[in-house]
Amino acid sequence: MHDTRVAYDAVASRYAELFSNVLETLPMERALLAAFAELVQAQDAAPVADIGCGPGHVTAHLHALGPTTFGIDLSSAMVALARRAHPDLRFDEGSMTALDLADGVLGGILALYSIIHTQPQQLPVVFTEFQRVLAPGGHLLLGFFAGDDPLPQEFDHKVSLAYRWSPDSLAELLRQAGFVEVARLLREPHEGERFQQAHLLVRKPQEP
Ligand SMILES: C[S@@+](CC[C@H](N)C(=O)[O-])C[C@H]1O[C@@H](n2cnc3c(N)ncnc32)[C@H](O)[C@@H]1O
Repeated sequence: MHDTRVAYDAVASRYAELFSNVLETLPMERALLAAFAELVQAQDAAPVADIGCGPGHVTAHLHALGPTTFGIDLSSAMVALARRAHPDLRFDEGSMTALDLADGVLGGILALYSIIHTQPQQLPVVFTEFQRVLAPGGHLLLGFFAGDDPLPQEFDHKVSLAYRWSPDSLAELLRQAGFVEVARLLREPHEGERFQQAHLLVRKPQEP
């Protein structure tokens, strides 16, 4: 985790230049975020955390759609850039492995390409943490690079060692952590992308 933080601190400005406007080119991701916003708002007014928010562009996009949204990131440089770009929004430093949030306080979690650097054996810890901080009925939208192999596959990500996951394998891990699947999206790589891109939308069940 230390390596990931240092690596993102080093590339934060470049990352922001490259990706801050990327949603303009991603109609399917925008549609998914709009659906996510609607589902979260139908549930209640609890806020959404964008965990591993990077420079905060998706945090701001979702917030503009309606749900109160704040960002959390491991990299202090990313948090500083996010605060500068979106001074009206809240951004905190923190790790998804041990969130500084009380139980059940969130209406939703976005985790877009932020679990890709997590060691596979640590992922159950992260998903249990997501369950803990979500309110019953809260939604989680997870974005990641897809692979066919049932086992996670390491790849040479430009910033830090990363893993691709088969959507079925990640969906099973989420199920084991207590989530119910709502929808999934698998799209082909655009020009300049290497892998299929996947999103899983899951929900924490309502208490009986
Ligand atoms: C590939 S970037 C994705 C940023 C943004 N979500 C996006 O879609 O453009 C991954 C981000 O996750 C953050 N990150 C990685 N591990 C994390 C952890 N354990 N807790 C919080 N953030 C983490 C990194 O610092 C980085 O900003």
